[in-house]
Amino acid sequence: MKEKIYIFDTTLRDGEQSPGASLTPKEKLEIALQLERLNVDVIEAGFPIASLGDFEAVSLIAKNVKKTIIAALARAKKIDIETAASALKFAKRARIHTFIATSDIHIKYKLKMSREEVLKTAVEAVKYARKFTDDVEFSCEDAARSDVEFMCKVIEEVIKAGATVINIPDTVGYSIPEEFGSLVNHIRNTVPNIDKCILSVHCHNDLGLAVANSISAIINGARQVECTINGIGERAGNASLEEIVMIIKTKKNYELLKNFYTDINTKEIYPTSRLVSNLTGIVVQPNKAIVGKNAFRHEAGIHQDGVLKQRQTYEIISPKDVGVPSSELVLGKHSGRHALEKRLSELGYRINKKLLNKIFIKFKNLADKKKYIFDEDIIAIVNEELGKEKQQLELKYFHISSGSGIIPTATVEIAIISDSKQKLFKEVECGDGPVDAAYKAIDKILLKLLNFKNPPKLVDYQLKAISSGKDAQGEVVVKLEYDGELFTGRGISTDIIEASIKSYISCWNNLLIRKKLTKKIKISL
Ligand code: KIV
Ligand code: ZN
Repeated sequence: MKEKIYIFDTTLRDGEQSPGASLTPKEKLEIALQLERLNVDVIEAGFPIASLGDFEAVSLIAKNVKKTIIAALARAKKIDIETAASALKFAKRARIHTFIATSDIHIKYKLKMSREEVLKTAVEAVKYARKFTDDVEFSCEDAARSDVEFMCKVIEEVIKAGATVINIPDTVGYSIPEEFGSLVNHIRNTVPNIDKCILSVHCHNDLGLAVANSISAIINGARQVECTINGIGERAGNASLEEIVMIIKTKKNYELLKNFYTDINTKEIYPTSRLVSNLTGIVVQPNKAIVGKNAFRHEAGIHQDGVLKQRQTYEIISPKDVGVPSSELVLGKHSGRHALEKRLSELGYRINKKLLNKIFIKFKNLADKKKYIFDEDIIAIVNEELGKEKQQLELKYFHISSGSGIIPTATVEIAIISDSKQKLFKEVECGDGPVDAAYKAIDKILLKLLNFKNPPKLVDYQLKAISSGKDAQGEVVVKLEYDGELFTGRGISTDIIEASIKSYISCWNNLLIRKKLTKKIKISL
């Protein structure tokens, strides 16, 4: 009999812990809706106690995703569990995922607890979580380095307390496949009530073995795997969803895997990979299995000849099966709305009519300035729109005076918008360069209005040319840190100073909205 492997996607939680990734709630929702089309079984939407942004993202996803289980992470603490439950309030199918470490190294140095205390805390957390939902997952953090007998005891007790899924994480990516498979096998054969729950695994990739360990775990009895799109995640990342799914689908002749299947709609793999990469800014290495740019490219003459004669000579997967578009269409000024919509959908963006109209106008404006519109141009336009929260700040005017031997000076005028009314504010500042001067002028306007002493800290500024050619657009991504939280802003323009100013204003805008600071701006409009 065929057995299903449940796919638990943690791109929006563990994946978002990747260095450099920070998504707005709106961007997370866009990814969650795509994960629903991909047909994953569970979407771990975030860690609601971690920040207001995480809480908002989980509730937004819980309200909008209809059929997939939405999970929220919580430490084994009442406050975490209550916050997770509250973020999941509107979910059609909610799961609370609670965890505590079971390895001695974590128990002694991080938790400063005894094993007995860990056991008691785990049981209490699961019982408490069950008050909010019937679907409770428990993870033994650092399971791969835990004392096996102690961990089995914890598992047995949390199942009695009501856990419905037991997850075994290799938190630090320390195991090798035979070892991890034996651990799963041991748990399955030792814990007396293990058949009352789904056994899950969650592997990190520190030794490059996350996918191999997950497959070994499936062979040894795991029926849920936790993974991320493009394998993103803490440090070296998590097991990659697309690799696990395609291994299960491809190895139909291999005795130990032939009876397993997933419900993943594999044609959505490539669009999902593009969307996650575009929104997180984490590029996919060209030689990445399944979704890398070179995954289906044949360079050697002998290989090309073979593939032309019979595709299977050098291809074990058809690119069509994972949704890789057959041609790379380059759009231009004569392309219509339909061609744009089709290309967007191949790139993972299924956007509503209202947003499509906005993007189409920007696309046409750009096509007047640039001969060819590449994928990167389209992606930048969409990301700029998606990255925006409700717009309360808008750039109206800027003037820069800069050159050798003169002090860079910027004049910036921005509009503060409220209920479709707006008021204009202008400031002049000098700086180390034109961008610095413009940023200081923007800070000056907002600090006065907010009555703040210091501006938020600029922690990252990245400028890149989108696509190729002298007429290429520049994209600027900036990150501001305020009150322990990171805020991102994007700006694009064929003028890199304008792109820099737009990204900074968009970042301030997101900060004001997410921190609910707009009320503090006391102006009569
Ligand atoms: O890696 C890990 O142990 C985790 C748990 C919270 C599941 O991410
Ligand atoms: Zn993890």
